[in-house]
Amino acid sequence: MQLRGGNGHGTLCQMTQISPALQAKEPRRVKARFIAPLAVVLVFVMGVFTVAILRVEANIRDQDIAERTAAVEKLFVQKLDKDTNLMLATMRALMTNPSIERAFRDLDRPALTRQLGPLFASLRDKHRITHLYFTGPDLINLYRFHSPDEFGDEIDRLTTIKAKERQDAVHGLELGSLGTLTLRLVMPWQRDGRVIGYLEIGEEIEHLIGEIGESLSVDMLVLVDKRMVLPEQWQRGQALMKRGGSWERFASHVALAQTTDRLPATLDDPTLQNLLTGRTAEIEDQGRSLHLAAVPLRDAGQRHIGDLVVIRDITAMKSAFQWSIVAVTTIGLLAAIGMIGVFYLALDRVERDYRRQHDLERQLLRVNAEYGRILQLEKLSALGTMVGSIAHQLNNPLVGVVSLAQLAERGVDDPARTREMLREIRSAGEDCHAFVKRMLAFSKVSRFDSKPTPMAELIEDTVLLFRQTENRNLPVEVKLPDEPVVLTIDPILIRHALFNLLVNAARATTDNGAIVITVEREDEPAQGRPGWSLAVTDHGQGMPPEVLEKIFVPFYTTHSDGTGLGLPVVQHVALLHGGQVSASSESGHGTRIAIWLPTSLPDSAENKSRTS
Ligand SMILES: Nc1ncnc2c1ncn2[C@@H]1O[C@H](COP(=O)(O)OP(=O)(O)OP(=O)(O)O)[C@@H](O)[C@H]1O
Ligand SMILES: [Mg+2]
Repeated sequence: MQLRGGNGHGTLCQMTQISPALQAKEPRRVKARFIAPLAVVLVFVMGVFTVAILRVEANIRDQDIAERTAAVEKLFVQKLDKDTNLMLATMRALMTNPSIERAFRDLDRPALTRQLGPLFASLRDKHRITHLYFTGPDLINLYRFHSPDEFGDEIDRLTTIKAKERQDAVHGLELGSLGTLTLRLVMPWQRDGRVIGYLEIGEEIEHLIGEIGESLSVDMLVLVDKRMVLPEQWQRGQALMKRGGSWERFASHVALAQTTDRLPATLDDPTLQNLLTGRTAEIEDQGRSLHLAAVPLRDAGQRHIGDLVVIRDITAMKSAFQWSIVAVTTIGLLAAIGMIGVFYLALDRVERDYRRQHDLERQLLRVNAEYGRILQLEKLSALGTMVGSIAHQLNNPLVGVVSLAQLAERGVDDPARTREMLREIRSAGEDCHAFVKRMLAFSKVSRFDSKPTPMAELIEDTVLLFRQTENRNLPVEVKLPDEPVVLTIDPILIRHALFNLLVNAARATTDNGAIVITVEREDEPAQGRPGWSLAVTDHGQGMPPEVLEKIFVPFYTTHSDGTGLGLPVVQHVALLHGGQVSASSESGHGTRIAIWLPTSLPDSAENKSRTS
């Protein structure tokens, strides 16, 4: 059996310091603390993410309609310019023809019909030219090829008046008498510095709207301000073009041309007004989503006569976006659920560990408290033993002293007997004195003065001292390492401890068994600190387990004349050096008691050494 004495309850003491703080704490609900805020954060992040995607989608749509509207504007101008150039080339070609010039000068309408009738028919059929005018220098119309029966009236349209004013070619959009929008080019015909008249070519722009709409994948709607056209004229124009538009459809505007068969039913006045202020609008029409914007339409005099409404079908785009939002949100949701799940599991583990740790701490607290109580009981019982032992140790000689004194009183006439009695009394008194001295020696052990000490010499001195007190001349073997061992210790205390061990070993040795002293390098078993062991082994009677477990209790002794302070002193000395004592014994086979000393002294021991 083996027993270890020393500061083994240090860990418990540390626990006792930490635990009161923890005592009040209940195990935290880690999951509840983290999962709910995490879920809120994730929902918030997903909300922000979805709003961001919706805004991006709206931006993309706005950008798309803005780009298309700009393209419509540009393409419209380009097409007008291109057609104007075509008309200009045609006009110049006509003006270089002497027979046409002659017919014009001579106001010869039949000659003009002959000369230009087939050409106009071809221009109308192949190049969509709808108007060709020959007008005199006084702006009185000579010939309208698209309506030959109407002539002799004064042309008061802006393009013609401007061409006369500037004496140069003028072109631009103009509203016709039938409420149609026409691109017109008017050019003065000059010969020898004199204007002989004006030539005018025009085309309806409806086909341009169709071409632009087709090339940009949008629908177009030409709206004209109602103040610019008379309802009856507009109705006539609609009938002529075989269109079924309604004058009442919008309050302020009327449709002149459009690329769709049917105007969106949801395009109402408020939406239109919105568009006319430069904003975009989004409407739903028969399951389609339409995005609308408007471009101002100006005539040859730069008057704002109406607007070109661009209609973009965004049904496919919107549903693609909706799908991607649904997909992204679903993936995000699944990722969030996964994340929360992983966190839940991780936190569940943390919470379980935390609870386990908490339970352990509580258990430890309980054990610690119980240990404290046991320690207290042990102390009290040791105190009881100590008081009993002191009383016993002092009572025996005192009883002897009292009875001897009584005997001496009675035999006072016999001086020899009285002297013997007095000697006995003195011997009892000396026993008491010796006992008290040993107790005083025990109390002085706490004084500590360390210095580097060669162990071989220390052991040799102690064995010499031991030999003087021991008369059986028991063999003592000393086993030291080959190299000299010098330890920083208090030599007086260690010598005292070693002496105690030798006395105990000698007392337990009944035959002539050798006592062995060994010094060995040994690491501390618990913490692995480097150190040395100084052990005394005997081959004596040994100890049963019930004795072995009490040998470090002060005043515990199995000898009638023992004080039971020998081994407690040894343990105390070892503790002062930051070491410990271990004992192993087997009944009938001997005992080994070892003092383990660290290579370097702990701070507390050094401080004691300095202050002592
Ligand atoms: N080497 C040993 N072999 C067997 N028993 C021992 C040995 N050393 C100590 N003991 C037992 O341990 C008890 C306590 O020893 P300790 O040295 O503390 O006191 P003691 O020897 O009884 O008294 P004192 O040391 O005052 O003479 C002893 O009474 C003895 O029973
Ligand atoms: Mg002893």
